Amino acid sequence: MKATAIAHANIALVKYWGKRDDDLLLPQAPSLSVALDRLITTTTVELGAAQDSLLLDGRPAERGELLRARAVLDAAGIRERARIESRNDFPTGAGLASSASGFAALAAAAVAAAGQERSLGELSALARLGSGSAARSVPGGWAVWRDREAEQVAPPEHLPARLLVAVCAQGPKEVGSREGMKRTRDTSPYHAAWIEQCRRDLPEALRLLRERDLAGLGALAERNALRMHADALAADPPLVYWEPATLGCLRALQRLRSDGVGAWATIDAGPHLVAICAPSDADRVARALRLVAGVREVIACAPAGGVRVVEAS
Ligand code: PMV
Repeated sequence: MKATAIAHANIALVKYWGKRDDDLLLPQAPSLSVALDRLITTTTVELGAAQDSLLLDGRPAERGELLRARAVLDAAGIRERARIESRNDFPTGAGLASSASGFAALAAAAVAAAGQERSLGELSALARLGSGSAARSVPGGWAVWRDREAEQVAPPEHLPARLLVAVCAQGPKEVGSREGMKRTRDTSPYHAAWIEQCRRDLPEALRLLRERDLAGLGALAERNALRMHADALAADPPLVYWEPATLGCLRALQRLRSDGVGAWATIDAGPHLVAICAPSDADRVARALRLVAGVREVIACAPAGGVRVVEAS
């Protein structure tokens, strides 16, 4: 009746930004991500409580978050009330996204607590109902999410890479991804072009991944992220997720490239920038990012695996 699971956050190289079904959290276009070894959520679910409760890093969650957790349990056929405790093992609580790792760990822990046997695909579909990107944290590694569930298309070690998370602001972002995504889809004149671009980017990204072409994949990821932000900037009211430090990091990576160091950026719906580079360049790239004004911290991650249950009773 009680189980604990661990999952990693992931960063998308071809982004998910637009739903075709708001209730079922189904994407308009496919996405590709890699799981991040140092961004970890540990979640414990205990069934049979008097009422549902959710503690996030020791604090009671907002009602909306509790309802999303309940949606995952309902979809798994779990009627018992649950006591859920979720802890982020991120090096700092600097407003880094934790919904992907959080809902992936929740789905795995809940299903284990209920004594259910589920495939990774089923777990991914359950996690998706909490947060779309959580579908990709279930299989982990290099993962593709096309529709109901995500799958691992290459194991973490397939392509040696470092993902350097430059923390560019503190605190939660102003407009969450759920609302931002909807506003962009409903009001941006560029949205159809963005979705078409993602449909073209995915097969190209998979080819580059298969060929272990980090330079090609990094450059594609940077273009894809900037186009996502172009779409969001064109929403009404506009969505400006960047801080000055975000742009400072982009410029720093451009300078590194002109000095012959391969490093490319991706940016989710927030101010933080993630640099993609080869392991041998990671120290140099991290040093350059730490020098950018406003950067609070740089967290160096390697590709990681998927969700795992660490305790069940
Ligand atoms: O899963 P959500 O609702 O937090 O949306 C994630 C959106 C992005 O992080 C911006 C892109 C992505 O594919 O992860």
